[in-house]
Amino acid sequence: MKIFSGSANKPLAEKVAESLNISLSPVEIFVFPDGERRVRLEEDVVNEDVVIIQSTTPPVDQNYMELFFLIDGAKRSGAKNITVVMPYLGYQRQDHVFRSGEAVSFQVIVKILESIGVSRVIACDLHTIKIPEFFTIPFTHLSALQLFAEKIQEVFRDSLSRDPVNRSFPTSARSSEASFNELRAVGSPPAIATPDSDTILVTPDMGGIRRIKILSEMLDEMPYVMIEKNRDLATGKVEVTAVHGPSTGSGFKGKKAIIVDDMISSGRTIVNAANILKEKGVEETLVFATHPIFSDEAPELLQNAPVEKVYVTDTVLIPEKKQFAKLTVLTISSMVADHVTS
Ligand code: R5P
Repeated sequence: MKIFSGSANKPLAEKVAESLNISLSPVEIFVFPDGERRVRLEEDVVNEDVVIIQSTTPPVDQNYMELFFLIDGAKRSGAKNITVVMPYLGYQRQDHVFRSGEAVSFQVIVKILESIGVSRVIACDLHTIKIPEFFTIPFTHLSALQLFAEKIQEVFRDSLSRDPVNRSFPTSARSSEASFNELRAVGSPPAIATPDSDTILVTPDMGGIRRIKILSEMLDEMPYVMIEKNRDLATGKVEVTAVHGPSTGSGFKGKKAIIVDDMISSGRTIVNAANILKEKGVEETLVFATHPIFSDEAPELLQNAPVEKVYVTDTVLIPEKKQFAKLTVLTISSMVADHVTS
C-alpha cells in the first residue's frame, strides 16, 4: 500500500501513515505563476493499492482540483486500486436543488470522482445519511462520535456512571458505517431532558437528531434536547426559532450542556445555540463538532461565546491564526488507518 497526501491536511496524512508504520509517499505539487497546478506522484504505484488523503476544505475548488490530479496521476501510473480519503467532504451541503436554477454541486463532484478512476471513498461525519447513495463505488462513512463519547466521559468522569467503551450497545451503534444506516428508520421524538439530569446533549438544528441520538446511546442514554434554527438562504444569517427542552422543574437552570454538530463554518449556529442556552439558565456549555471549517470570524465568535470549551477533530487543518484558547483538537488518524486497511 502507498499513501499520498494532497496539500490540504498533510499532518493528518502523516499521522495515518505513522499509525500504519509506513512513510507517506512523496508528491510534487508545483504551482505555476497563473495558479495552475502540476501534480506528480514521486513513487512507482504499478499494481499498488494507493490511498490518497485530501480534505476538500477551503480553498475547496483548489483542493478538489489537486485531488483530481492526484487520482489521475495514480490511475495513469498503473495503480491497482485507488482509495480516496476525504476526511471533510466539500460541497456535500449542496446535495439537492434548494431554489430553482441551482446546481446540485455534490452530484457533479461524485461524477468526476467516479469517472477518473476512484475505487473507494472514505469520509467522516457526513452532513446527511443520503450522501453515500450518490456513489456507485464503495463508500465508508466514519464518525467521530465514539471519540466524542470518550472525551465527554473523560471530562465528566465524576458525574457519568459508565465508560462508553465498555458499554454494551449494539455493535452497529459503534461501527461508523452501520450506525448511520441503521438509524435511517429511527423516527422517535427527541428525549427531553428530565429535571433531575445535570448534563444534556444538545443538537443545534433538526438535521442533527440522528447524530445526537447515537451519542446519547453511547453515553448511557444521556438526555438530549433539540434547537430549531432557520438559515436565510440568501444571507446565511442563522436564527433560533424554537428550543425543545425541559419544561418542568428548574428547566435548563444550572445544567451543563454539550452541543454537538457535524461542522462549524461561520460559527453562527453554535453561538446562537450557546446564547439561547445561557438565557435559559444553562451553567456551562461545551461544544463538540467534527469539522472545524472556521470561515469568516468563527474563531473570534467562538472564543467570545458563552462556551467553556470547543472540541473539534483534525479532519480539517486549522491554521495557527485560526486557533484560539478554548479550542482542543482530537485526532481521527487511527480510525482512518483502521479503515484504509480493511
Ligand atoms: C447545518 O445544517 C450543519 O449541521 C451545521 O450546523 C452548519 O453547517 C454550521 O454552519 P455555521 O457554523 O455557518 O452556522
